[in-house]
Amino acid sequence: MTQASLLPHPSALLDAKRLELIKGYRVHEMRTPARPVKVITPSQTIGPFFSPQIIRPGDDDLACLAPGAARAQGTPIVMTGRVTDEDGRPVRKALIEVWQANKWGKYDHPDDITDAPLDPNFKGWGRMLTDTDGRYRLRSIKPGPYPNPGYDNWMRPPHIHYSIFAAGLMQRLITQVYFPGEPLNDIDPILNGIEDLEARASLIAVPQPAERNGALAFEFDIVLRGKAETPFFVDA
Ligand SMILES: [Fe+2]
Repeated sequence: MTQASLLPHPSALLDAKRLELIKGYRVHEMRTPARPVKVITPSQTIGPFFSPQIIRPGDDDLACLAPGAARAQGTPIVMTGRVTDEDGRPVRKALIEVWQANKWGKYDHPDDITDAPLDPNFKGWGRMLTDTDGRYRLRSIKPGPYPNPGYDNWMRPPHIHYSIFAAGLMQRLITQVYFPGEPLNDIDPILNGIEDLEARASLIAVPQPAERNGALAFEFDIVLRGKAETPFFVDA
């Protein structure tokens, strides 16, 4: 029996109104009209356009404070993927920012008041621009689960937070990627708040052959809109 199966389903502890607030992912149809939209005004590219200089060396590596510095504790991982539009075309120079907890499920943030230890070599934050094929790549360690503040018996499964901003977006898009085979995935109200099973599954990273250095490898693609749109959080 797994540790997760010993816990009651977290939604059993929540009233319906609070659960609705948790189910904060954007519904596909809201961003994907059934009929083509008639354009009645001239089009204009709105940006933003990011300078490559916005990325510093090592920004794509969450598991050390600077290139060549000591590495954080935990299982090394590599996450790769593509950002595409609804027609599968690459979205170039999309700005991806990521953040996550350390091996012990601790965020280096004053709002994290758990007793889990900090890792002095763990940055926990990263930034990258997609290349001409819409691809990105980050290095990190696998994050640990952590108790969701304000709730009893709700452990968040290991996950990485993503923020995506690209030319043509009026505001950034926010989501979370999870890891395959995690029992906590099956009872997490945030992940399971996505009623569309295909959309929910799209937030589980796909295992890839391990890196030559032994790091676990995963793939997580992001679709900005359309029927295969990645689930994003609704504006708070
Ligand atoms: Fe988190």
